[in-house]
Parts: sequence; C-alpha cells; structure tokens
Amino acid sequence: MRILVTGGAGYIGSVAVDRLVARGDEVAVLDSLWRGHRSAIAKGAEFYAADLRDAARVEAVVRDVNPDAVLHFAAATLVPESVREPSLYFSINTSGSLNLLMAMLEAGVERIVFSSTAAVYGVPQSMPVREDDPTQPINPYGQSKRMVEQILEAFSLAYGLRYAALRYFNVAGATEYLGEDHDPETHVIPVAIQVAMGLRDAFGIYGTDYPTPDGTAIRDYVHVLDLVDAHLRALDRLDETLGAINLGTRDGVSVRQIVDAVEQVTERELPVRLEARREGDPPSLVADSTKASDVLGWTPTHSNLPEMVSSAWDWWQRHPAGYSRSRAEVPSAVGR
Ligand SMILES: NC(=O)c1ccc[n+]([C@@H]2O[C@H](COP(=O)([O-])OP(=O)(O)OC[C@H]3O[C@@H](n4cnc5c(N)ncnc54)[C@H](O)[C@@H]3O)[C@@H](O)[C@H]2O)c1
Repeated sequence: MRILVTGGAGYIGSVAVDRLVARGDEVAVLDSLWRGHRSAIAKGAEFYAADLRDAARVEAVVRDVNPDAVLHFAAATLVPESVREPSLYFSINTSGSLNLLMAMLEAGVERIVFSSTAAVYGVPQSMPVREDDPTQPINPYGQSKRMVEQILEAFSLAYGLRYAALRYFNVAGATEYLGEDHDPETHVIPVAIQVAMGLRDAFGIYGTDYPTPDGTAIRDYVHVLDLVDAHLRALDRLDETLGAINLGTRDGVSVRQIVDAVEQVTERELPVRLEARREGDPPSLVADSTKASDVLGWTPTHSNLPEMVSSAWDWWQRHPAGYSRSRAEVPSAVGR
C-alpha cells in the first residue's frame, strides 16, 4: 500500500513510518518539523515539509502522494499549553485535520487512522473506560481531538470515508533506533529517565493521597511498538469504518511504580519531590480494550513496565542528547 503519514517525524509517527517501510509499504511523511525530528524519519520514506494549517499545501501534498490511506498523527499534544493557547490547538488539531480530510475527499482517498486520545473522555465516571462512555473533554486539547472524531463520524456517513479513531491512553518505550524526545518533555517515563541521567534535578510526583494502593495516580501505558501494531491492523481492516477504539491494557501502573521501575532499570536512586494534586487529574485512568481485541485482533506483547522502561533507558543511553545532534552523529536513527 501507499501510505501518507502525518506527524511522521514525531515520537509515535516515526515508529509507524519505520514499521511500514519494514513491511514493504510505500511511505510519504507530511510534517512541519515544529516538534519532530528529521533524522527520526526512516530512510526509504519520502518527506514533505508542510504545515496542516496551510490548506493549499496539504491539498497539493495529498494530490502528489495519492495514497491508499492516511495515518494522521500530527498534532499539538500538551494539555497545559492547550489551556494557555487554545487557538493553537483548534487551528492545528481541528482545522488542520479538516484541511487534511478535505484534501482527501478532493483526491478520492477514503481511509484514515486518526490519533485520538483518552483526553476525549474528560474525567470518566467509571473505570475501565469504554468507547461508548460519555465524552466530556475538560481541556482544549481533548476538545480539539473530539471535534475531529465528530467530523470523521459525519464524513463517514455522508461521504463514505472509512476511519478508525484510536484513543491512546499513555504511550511509552522505544525501539532500538527511535525514542521519545519531546521538548518540552511532560511524559512520566522520559522525565524520570532524564532525572536518572542527571539532566533534571528531581522527579515531581503530583498527588500522594489518591484513593489508589500507594496513593499516587494510576495510568494505562502501551509500548509504542504495540500501539503501532494496532495502527497497522486498523489500516488493513478499513474496508469499513471501525469508529473509536481504545488502546490500553487495562492494567494501570502508578507513578510510584514507575519511579521504582526506573530506579531498578537504571540502578540509580531518583530524587523525588512530592507535590499537590493537579486539577483535572483523575486518580486512575485505564482502558477497556475489548473492542481492540475483538475488532483488530490486537494483543499487546511489549506493554509491561520493565520492557517499556528498559527500552526507553537503552535508547537514551545510546542518544544522550536525544535527536538534537546532527544526523551524522546519530547514525542509528537513519541509514537503515
Ligand atoms: N504520546 C502519547 O502518549 C499520546 C497519547 C495520546 C494521544 N497521542 C496523540 O498521538 C499523536 C502523536 O503523538 P506524539 O507523542 O508522537 O507527538 P509528537 O509531538 O512527538 O509528534 C507530533 C508531530 O506532528 C508534527 N506537527 C505538529 N503540528 C504540525 C502541523 N501544524 N503541521 C504538520 N506537522 C505538525 C510535529 O512536528 C511532530 O513531528 C498526536 O496526535 C497525539 O495527540 C499521543
């Protein structure tokens, strides 16, 4: 197949590009490189520098690539930033996605896998969360993504677009060559690893009095390789619309368990700073992934805490400056 991957220079998109190239698909990447890394794009994929907000450019890229399907990862992804700068989130995530979908309609491209998020649920009433639970996002990031799901629903009914909106909970881990290097980094595992590497002073735990076994918040982590596997399965099943699908393991891990795992893997003690709870952070957020198992035949095989932490640690050991060194200095991420 010929696949267009938006956000293919980012953390998850770059792993998807790598896996698609490895299985023999033709891949083109659309990315503005705002928060991605050119050197994370696997050799063998075409690259188009383009901003989703530029409708004419997006239309030209889609026409030029003429893909069989689109994997749409590109987005702004930081909740606090979305509260401060909602215009960025609605313009990139919602309006930018609409530009992409209009370009697809124009070019007759009928299949898309969209990166959605557990943030569309807001603060869920019951756990584990199911796809048909109410969606009441509590920040512009979640709202901007939910709006895209609504556009997809309407386009599917009206124009026969076939889509899957994969709702990720938390994503972690690395491959040998591709890792998580966000700036700013807000995700718990890379932050803890950067503390272990001495790149940050201390690891902040926000809330130690939640009604959970150790008092810290519980989240549902999926290894990036398992997450990408779900995308490939969805791509291959887009003869019909699949709708919203949760991707999680149902087995949550607490922030304290992550600190323990990072200490064990790195054999270093983490300086920890105990902070108050953050507003809007639910005590526990875990997915019911029955639909992913039934519809996609998906079973995560790498999503255990030791493997997620050790793969991330190994990547940071090999790339102590992340992707920030020049291509020539990071040969492991290119030239394969
Ligand atoms: N990482 C997670 O834990 C997680 C959880 C839930 C959902 N998601 C979703 O998964 C997707 C990928 O997440 P990630 O962690 O890989 O993010 P990332 O920030 O690493 O990658 C996003 C990519 O999109 C590109 N991009 C951003 N704005 C753009 C624009 N206007 N035009 C073109 N390209 C643009 C960036 O340059 C970057 O390469 C996002 O849609 C995110 O909302 C991620």
